[in-house]
Amino acid sequence: MAVMVTGGAGYIGSHAVKRLLADGQEVVVLDNLSRGHKAAVDKLVALAPDRCHFVRGDVGNRDAVLATLRKHSVDSVMHFAAFALVGESVDEPVLYHRNNMSEVVELVDACLQADVQRFVFSSTCATYGEPKVVPISEDEPQKPINPYGVSKLHVEHLLDDVTTASQRAGKAFSFAALRYFNVAGADADGILGEDHDPETHLIPVVLQCCLGQREHVTIFGTDYATPDGTCVRDYIHVEDLVDAHVKVMRCLVPGDRRKYNLGTGEGLSVRQIIDSVQRVTGQKLKVLEGQRREGDPAQLFANPARIRDELGWSASITDVDQSVASAWAWFQKHPRGYVGSK
Ligand SMILES: NC(=O)c1ccc[n+]([C@@H]2O[C@H](COP(=O)([O-])OP(=O)(O)OC[C@H]3O[C@@H](n4cnc5c(N)ncnc54)[C@H](O)[C@@H]3O)[C@@H](O)[C@H]2O)c1
Repeated sequence: MAVMVTGGAGYIGSHAVKRLLADGQEVVVLDNLSRGHKAAVDKLVALAPDRCHFVRGDVGNRDAVLATLRKHSVDSVMHFAAFALVGESVDEPVLYHRNNMSEVVELVDACLQADVQRFVFSSTCATYGEPKVVPISEDEPQKPINPYGVSKLHVEHLLDDVTTASQRAGKAFSFAALRYFNVAGADADGILGEDHDPETHLIPVVLQCCLGQREHVTIFGTDYATPDGTCVRDYIHVEDLVDAHVKVMRCLVPGDRRKYNLGTGEGLSVRQIIDSVQRVTGQKLKVLEGQRREGDPAQLFANPARIRDELGWSASITDVDQSVASAWAWFQKHPRGYVGSK
């Protein structure tokens, strides 16, 4: 039996593929390379040529996906493929509703037809919108404030509905929606890393400044109701995140519908991240203070108690310097990302 990883050419998906291969799993990577990297897939295939198969295609191409699922006897799917830029989703909602929602309806339909039993979905803390209570538990109402968050919440609802119907029909479908906070870092072996274009995540943006690719770092808003006035977020290392996926996937039984927040449980401010980068790299950066951005909640960090209590899982890397150091190691070796990398 194989695991299909959609979006396996992207940042988090590629790390998941590497981990699954290390576990001895057969893996099918489905990615249309719209935002991913063939170079990442090539590295993964080289690790296990007999067990890692790459299929270039859209998750929304139902018939092609169904044929692939059947060909490789896929019984579990990790679905990472999506567009994930909040600002872009506000400007181009149709793109997000089509790619992150409509296409996923086709993917899920193919999974049901192929009797896939476990579906692990990349959801997001953006489904909570502006939470009333932090740290955020899974019981916090989900009220997304942008099309990206709406598209992810819709898929959670879709998965709930099909699991109910599947159970009623005596079938074995199950799913987990994993709501990530901020994912950071790179794999310990240094072959995979974060390479988004445009890059909007704080740690790589600050590291690009260290590489001289940006002149300065701008802090958007210094007057929030937080200890140092800057926004607070929860940074989970990508390998911890992937480890949680594997644990959750293995525990799913027919009819399961699990929802977990994946974070460290610790909130760190923008200033604390910039300080961490300066500590790790030994560089002093030019930091400017800018206006708040619209729709940036003051604090987003997880209460990860549910997954700890139910599965005994918690993040192993809780020192952000460690996450920053792994990302820095990747960026030093790959200053232009996968372009030109071997
Ligand atoms: N990076 C984070 O901090 C973060 C936080 C919360 C949630 N997430 C979610 O995690 C997932 C992965 O994020 P990432 O940072 O690795 O993104 P990424 O852009 O690096 O990877 C996404 C991959 O999906 C592929 N893809 C997109 N649409 C596709 C489609 N219709 N068919 C086939 N392939 C398609 C892209 O080519 C890309 O390789 C996304 O679903 C994202 O919403 C990420």
